[in-house]
Amino acid sequence: MKITIGTIAALALITLSGQVVAEEQLEIGQKIYERAFGRGCGTCHDIASNPQLTANIKAGTLDRAKFEKILKEGKGGMPKAIEEILKVKAVEKAGYGEDQAVDALYNYLSSK
Ligand code: HEC
Repeated sequence: MKITIGTIAALALITLSGQVVAEEQLEIGQKIYERAFGRGCGTCHDIASNPQLTANIKAGTLDRAKFEKILKEGKGGMPKAIEEILKVKAVEKAGYGEDQAVDALYNYLSSK
């Protein structure tokens, strides 16, 4: 491929739009965390006696598959959450499906 200024500009644009998409995803993840169930996940998970999601992801005990399973099925005091997540306005607005919404939330928690 012949590299011209146009090629370089096009590549820069692709990189930039990738970053914009990634930032938008993190914002949506944050909105889910703060708004799902109307009061957010943090009303329970920011309490020390409940599982600390970011810490568990970083420790490797909460992978993407386990995270998704618990959101879909609930567990003990943890309510089923997937329907509530899809109802968050930012998720509806972005047109995210289940996988995209779970990715956004998981990536947000991983980045905290
Ligand atoms: C009503 C309180 C409450 C709300 C709201 C809540 N959770 Fe939970 N969650 C819990 C409790 C309690 C547990 C521990 C369940 C158990 O292990 O028996 C838990 C467990 C989890 C786990 C498993 C953690 C691990 O490391 O095993 C995940 C993942 C999780 N919650 C995600 C979420 C997300 C994401 C939200 C918001 C969409 C949310 N929770 C909202 C109470 C809550």
